[in-house]
Amino acid sequence: MSFPITRLRRLRTSSSLRRMVRETSLSPSDFVYPLFVVHGRDVREEISAMPGVYHLSIDQVVTEARAVAALGVPSVLLFGLPAVKDAVGSENFSDSGIIQQAIRAIKNAVPEMVVITDVCMCEYTDHGHCGIVRDGKVINDETLDYLGRVVVSHARAGADVVAPSGMMDGMVSAIRTALDTTGYQDTGILSYAVKYASGFYGPFREAAESAPRFGDRHSYQMDPANIREALREAQLDVEEGADMLMVKPALAYLDVVRRVREMFDLPLAAYNVSGEYSMVKAAAANGWIDERRIVLESLTGIKRAGADIILTYHAKDAARWLRDEQRSGG
Ligand code: PBG
Repeated sequence: MSFPITRLRRLRTSSSLRRMVRETSLSPSDFVYPLFVVHGRDVREEISAMPGVYHLSIDQVVTEARAVAALGVPSVLLFGLPAVKDAVGSENFSDSGIIQQAIRAIKNAVPEMVVITDVCMCEYTDHGHCGIVRDGKVINDETLDYLGRVVVSHARAGADVVAPSGMMDGMVSAIRTALDTTGYQDTGILSYAVKYASGFYGPFREAAESAPRFGDRHSYQMDPANIREALREAQLDVEEGADMLMVKPALAYLDVVRRVREMFDLPLAAYNVSGEYSMVKAAAANGWIDERRIVLESLTGIKRAGADIILTYHAKDAARWLRDEQRSGG
């Protein structure tokens, strides 16, 4: 049946009809909000390349976690900036480290908050790479031992989920074993399974002070041109015991999100990364785009591609906008 019998515009005639036939819905419970934790008290310093995102001391992180929960966002992702960086990133697995303190403070103040920790070495090491470096190379298997120590200290502090982001081979099984042999069978793993070597992480490196001092991350993060390799990465992480998978970045990789969604039944997350955020904020600040429309449209696109969970710096704004829309019957 085609025109003039079929007229697709019929179902677009009113806002209520459009709501009834909407195929993809976005909700605050889809979001994870990333937080950058620093030492000190009463610190709330805006990251210049990421307007609206801050370096927060523990007291401020707790305030933020309460605000996030009040907006219906169920989860935060924690990044820590240590007091001292060294070759092995010692603060990363110290029980008095910045992240361990932040986990305890958040779980104490907002027990229902799902606390996810980013598990990587680059913020903690003096060379800025995501693993142990020897002769200018990132040594895979030795790094795994350290990642095991990091996740156990996060779990002991109360983390619900750990999210390894360093793209080391075997990281998921090493972490699963470390958790299971220390009594943390219930701590989940969200694997940054498919993480590309991306220019879109630019602003994050200022936020996390994690730029590599030499070289780049191409020997461990994925080539942006590859998708079959992405499916192999995801497959291995499923076999190693990941509870959830992630594709990162999101917007330039929606085809990858779709393929991973079709191949695997695990909950799938996509990371709407710093560069994606900063570009929107910069264009909005110039009055070139409508920030609210662009953000909700982009997040809807990420869900439509197949993500169940979106890690995004827009989470608080988007949750507020969605609430307003619901109230006005949008
Ligand atoms: C740590 C890590 C990075 C991001 C998340 N975890 C940086 C990197 O791999 O270089 C990027 C997040 C963002 O850009 O928002 N390895």
